[in-house]
Amino acid sequence: MNFTLAHFSDLHLGPLPRGAAFHAFRFKRVIGAASWAFNRRKKHLPGIAEALLRDIHAHRPQHVAFTGDATNIASPLEFPRLRAWLDRLGHPEWVSFTPGNHDAYVPVSPEKGLAYFAPFMAGDMKTEAPFPYVRLRRNVALIGLNSAEPRWLHSAEGRLGPTQRHHLRLLLAELRAKGFYRLVMIHHPPGPGMAARLRALTDAPELRNILCEEGVELVIHGHNHRREFHWLEHNNSRVPAIGVPSATMAADAHHPAEWNLYEISRHKGQWQTRVHIRKWQDAAAGFVPAHDFVVGG
Ligand SMILES: [Fe+2]
Ligand SMILES: [Fe+2]
Repeated sequence: MNFTLAHFSDLHLGPLPRGAAFHAFRFKRVIGAASWAFNRRKKHLPGIAEALLRDIHAHRPQHVAFTGDATNIASPLEFPRLRAWLDRLGHPEWVSFTPGNHDAYVPVSPEKGLAYFAPFMAGDMKTEAPFPYVRLRRNVALIGLNSAEPRWLHSAEGRLGPTQRHHLRLLLAELRAKGFYRLVMIHHPPGPGMAARLRALTDAPELRNILCEEGVELVIHGHNHRREFHWLEHNNSRVPAIGVPSATMAADAHHPAEWNLYEISRHKGQWQTRVHIRKWQDAAAGFVPAHDFVVGG
């Protein structure tokens, strides 16, 4: 029996609420709001976010993964609006979220920020820290990491830190022993060299080593706003990583909006992941099939 998972990322839901830049003033937010007004506003279209809701609902996946950058400048005015959008997407039990750097663009107190997404990041396995969280759905273990932390003005870097990495290693071993398909969700690309300087995960080499040493069936991420597939390699083992473009990117951009549908199954004792890429098309006023491929099996 297959397990189906929808994956999208980098919603960057617009438009920016009025006064978002100056509410709880931070210089970085004002710069971010100017960037939105002059540039990003024309690229991230709210109409595509609406079409995304419809298309995911039409496919009735068994679970949905959203790998971060819900907001644009982490304004306290953005979080309630994003929560309302997530509630329209589906129940928190059905949708898993991992924060992106834009969701921690500047320091925001949890109750005015990420707490709005807390039900979508609540694990159902007892863990010692909020991240990684684990959600068990049939024979699939969804493991959510938090790579988002406030950085200086020109940095879009991310970091997991030693505590999160330590817990991840223990969890991966435990879930392997229990026979789960292990799917890791993270906003930043998980391997070294996968993102430009000042946009990368600073502890990507350490994460890559853990993923390869303990084994993972699939890593999914966002952040680069482009379609990508990588093998993370270390010590003669390798792990597949799939990145998606922004889910609201206009059709005339280099990398128009896409979302992926993963069909996970087991054949002769081997896990197999069939990937269906759906791409935004203006002429169809919706998402259409773009490419299919299979990982493993
Ligand atoms: Fe993004
Ligand atoms: Fe990002």
